Amino acid sequence: MTDLLTMVDRSKLPKHIAIIMDGNGRWARERGEDRVYGHYEGVVSVREIVDACGELGIDYLTLYAFSAENWNRPKAEVDALMELLVNTIRKEVDDLKKNNVRLHVIGDFASLPEVCQKEMTEAMEITSMNTGLNLVLALSYSARQEILFATRKIAEMAQSGTLKPEDINEDLFQRCLNTAGFPDPELMIRTSGENRISNFLLYQLAYAELYFTPVHWPAFRKQNLYEALLDYQRRERRFGKTSEQIQTDFTPHA
Ligand code: IPE
Ligand code: IPE
Ligand code: MG
Repeated sequence: MTDLLTMVDRSKLPKHIAIIMDGNGRWARERGEDRVYGHYEGVVSVREIVDACGELGIDYLTLYAFSAENWNRPKAEVDALMELLVNTIRKEVDDLKKNNVRLHVIGDFASLPEVCQKEMTEAMEITSMNTGLNLVLALSYSARQEILFATRKIAEMAQSGTLKPEDINEDLFQRCLNTAGFPDPELMIRTSGENRISNFLLYQLAYAELYFTPVHWPAFRKQNLYEALLDYQRRERRFGKTSEQIQTDFTPHA
């Protein structure tokens, strides 16, 4: 098998990759195992992909690990996922620090179990001086809630007189989102064959290239990521312009 990495153009990499890690349950069921087994194995893929992004020099990797809607799953599965999260962070934090990875969390942080909040806060502090890959975990995340909270914040500023309605622009709005200061993802990957966004980064994905693969998350490996990157690099990102305009434009693949 050719190593797809050799075909990836290092000068045309996205700065930010966002991934909907889907299919853990189906992957486990196909093997006659409990869904939770799929979540455990999904952690192996997370490690691989974090590693690959670090090696490639990607700036931001956002992983959708738990949606606000996922609270509606059976309690036993939710509990197992929260426990897995705590144990994984506890186990991985030293390696994250060593590998120059900085951890961030987006989503409704206060809704997470206390032990989980504590573990995540500590890991964010421990890795806060790192300057390599920014690993953003979306936990109890809902893009609609994020947009609503930003709107509320802006309304409060307007009401208190610290902001004039005509000063509300994209830049201000972005700064009120959970992802304040992060570049928008240029590439969004969803595993497991589902062609939907499921309330993930609705504002930030406005111009992202979407890549859907039938591979279940626990089977997703570095070569699958390189495949997605090669697909991304074959696309022409026009941002509303014509193809002719893009081809005479000398700006790099942005
Ligand atoms: C993704 O896998 C992980 C989470 C949503 C937490 P799923 O658990 O959704 O797996 P499927 O989609 O049921 O196979
Ligand atoms: C989206 O996957 C959320 C995460 C991957 C964490 P789901 O499996 O929950 O999404 P739906 O329900 O199929 O849309
Ligand atoms: Mg799913």
